[in-house]
Amino acid sequence: MDKFRIVGGRPLEGRVQISGAKNSALPCLAAALLSSGTVTFHNLPYVRDIITMRRLLEDLGCGVLMPEQATLKVTASNIEFFEAPYELVKSMRASVLALGPLLARFGEARVSLPGGCAIGQRPVDLHLRALEVLGAVISLENGTIVARAGRLKGANVFFPKITVTGTENLMMAASLAEGVTVLDNAAREPEIEDLAELLNKMGARVTGAGTSTIRIEGVEKLGGAGHTIIPDRIETGTFLAAAALTGGELELCNCRPDHLGSVIAHMRQAGVHIEQPNQFTLNVHANGGLKALDIVTQEYPGFPTDMQAQYMALMTRAEGTSVITENIFENRFMHASELARMGARIHIQGKQAIVEGGGRMTGAKVQASDLRASASLVVAGLAADGETIVDRVYHIDRGYEKIEEKLRSVGGQIERFRE
Ligand code: UD1
Repeated sequence: MDKFRIVGGRPLEGRVQISGAKNSALPCLAAALLSSGTVTFHNLPYVRDIITMRRLLEDLGCGVLMPEQATLKVTASNIEFFEAPYELVKSMRASVLALGPLLARFGEARVSLPGGCAIGQRPVDLHLRALEVLGAVISLENGTIVARAGRLKGANVFFPKITVTGTENLMMAASLAEGVTVLDNAAREPEIEDLAELLNKMGARVTGAGTSTIRIEGVEKLGGAGHTIIPDRIETGTFLAAAALTGGELELCNCRPDHLGSVIAHMRQAGVHIEQPNQFTLNVHANGGLKALDIVTQEYPGFPTDMQAQYMALMTRAEGTSVITENIFENRFMHASELARMGARIHIQGKQAIVEGGGRMTGAKVQASDLRASASLVVAGLAADGETIVDRVYHIDRGYEKIEEKLRSVGGQIERFRE
């Protein structure tokens, strides 16, 4: 298994290119299943989850070409299977995004039920209930969700809880339904808007994406399209945290500062200097002087749960005590005990982590437990005194493109090795 060896204590300095957003690329790739035309994607991040989604599309019968890195051409004209098997779903929950498109286009879809995962239960009941409102008949057969329908029928769907991939699944399914679907209490993440933009390019009629009410007028058929994936806001935020924690200075290019409002506002308040010279660039620097500041994770536009772990690493350095409240997922504090191995003082009380900041971190052997937890350990290792070994970096490979190369290019001492 791959590990990272990090020698910390050196400020990061230089320029970093932000990659395309994994969480936007995944639903957009699934949307290619809605059409027999070719959909061309640009700015895809080359990360494990995208490779898994590509494999899923190929297993289903899609033609996939990769004319250059970051570009894929997907043609779903010869779909032969309608099933996302357990091997893929267990390594990537987002495989469930195949459910809506397959069901809407072929009247049948099977997706292995995702099991519990490291960051809590994460059920898909809301996806299923909402598809039932559109007329799907859903059963569970030997651990597999089996969904069937004639042509789906547009309807009013109210999500009792906001769900990102649930909203995306329904947007895709409703695009080919008969009549109008209105999704209420929909997720408002930038990735939802990106998917809507792609669907509309394919011929769908989606309005309101980015607000909590999305209206989809179903059409009979969708066609091919070309689409450039938005920049990854969580990768951007992770580099903001890395610069701030190491007392460095970074220029982050090809990003979307407008997708990071809450993160930037909180970091500024905590004493990080962040400037936005233009629409697609952020400059960040910090020279100590970090102040403790509480955060509460919330759905967009609130503080993202996917930045909670990296922010916790930042708060270990800040003067004072901060309270981090995790509202989206249960059991998403596994990085806290690993950060504690590096000298952090963190106490968990239910869904709150109390971080006593101000101490210096020292290198240690730590273990990544999920994607964002591993990012927080890398960021902490870059700032800690001495050597940190991060085990199980396959978690970080799921969602961060060339993380060690990018960090090395700005002075981070990090190398990958295998034992
Ligand atoms: C997406 C993101 C993930 C991010 C999360 C929250 C992708 C591929 N992943 O995950 O990185 O951390 O949003 O911003 O975009 N829930 C249910 N029933 C359901 C669906 C969700 O109870 O059917 C609960 C979940 O357990 C969780 C909450 O709703 O507590 C939000 O989950 P959701 O927004 O669905 O997360 P994902 O779409 O899986």
